[in-house]
Amino acid sequence: MTTIAIIGAGKGLGLSVARRFGREGFSVALIARNQQRLDDLAATLESEGVSAAGFTANVRDAASLTAALEAATAALGPIEVLQYSPLPAKEFMRNVLETSVADLIGPVEFSIYGPVTAARHVIPGMRVLGQGTILFVNGASAVRPGGKVTGTSVAFAGESAYAQLLHDAVADDNIHVGQLIIPLGIGGGDPDHEPESIAETLWSIHSERGEFRTYVAPVD
Ligand SMILES: NC(=O)c1ccc[n+]([C@@H]2O[C@H](COP(=O)([O-])OP(=O)(O)OC[C@H]3O[C@@H](n4cnc5c(N)ncnc54)[C@H](OP(=O)(O)O)[C@@H]3O)[C@@H](O)[C@H]2O)c1
Repeated sequence: MTTIAIIGAGKGLGLSVARRFGREGFSVALIARNQQRLDDLAATLESEGVSAAGFTANVRDAASLTAALEAATAALGPIEVLQYSPLPAKEFMRNVLETSVADLIGPVEFSIYGPVTAARHVIPGMRVLGQGTILFVNGASAVRPGGKVTGTSVAFAGESAYAQLLHDAVADDNIHVGQLIIPLGIGGGDPDHEPESIAETLWSIHSERGEFRTYVAPVD
C-alpha cells in the first residue's frame, strides 16, 4: 500500500482529499503544526476505514518537514503522492506599498523553500516506486498577482515557476507534477468550489495526468 502525504492538512480541503484518495486504497499522512487537530482528523478517517496518521511540521522549518515525511513513510508506507497545500497566513497578504523585505521572508519560506524541501525529499522514493504525483494547490494570486496580497503573489510566483520546472524535469521518471489554481476561494455555495469537488479534481489530476496547470474556475 502506498501513501498520500498532505502537507497542510486541515478539516477543509485536506480532509476531503484524504477521503478521496483513501477511498482508492491510499494510506494518508496528514501534516500540519497542531498534533491534536491532526489526531482528530486521523481518527475521523480511521472510523471511515481509511488508514491515516498525523505528523507535525511547520513548512517554514525544513528539518521538521523532512522529519515528518520520514516518519510518515516509516509508519504508513512509501509516499506515492505528495500534496503541498498549507493555508497561507493572513499576515502574508499586505498591500504592495506596505510590504517590506522582512514581510516577504514568511511567504518565501512557506511557498518556495517548503515546496523545494518536500519535493526533493519525496522524489527519490517515487523513482524507486517507478511512479509518483506531486500536487501544488494555490489561489488565483499564483497566476494573477494581487496588490492587496503581495506576499502570496510574490512567493506563489516562485512556487509556480519551481513546480513547472519540476514538471518538465521528472516527467521521464513517470512522476507527474500538477498545479491546481482555486480562484474565489473554497466553499461559499458554488458546487465546483466545495472541498469534495476540488478533491475530485485533484484525484483526476493524479489519475489522468493532463497538463501541468488546472483551474477550478477561470481567473478574471
Ligand atoms: N480556503 C480558501 O478559501 C482557499 C482559497 C484559494 C486557495 N486555497 C488553497 O487551498 C489549500 C488549503 O485548503 P483549506 O483552506 O481548505 O485548508 P485545510 O485543508 O482545511 O487546512 C490547511 C492547513 O494548513 C495548515 N498550515 C498552515 N500553516 C502551516 C504551516 N506553516 N506549516 C504546516 N501546516 C500549516 C493549517 O494547520 P495548522 O494550523 O495545524 O498548521 C491548516 O489546517 C491551500 O493550498 C490554499 O492555497 C484555499
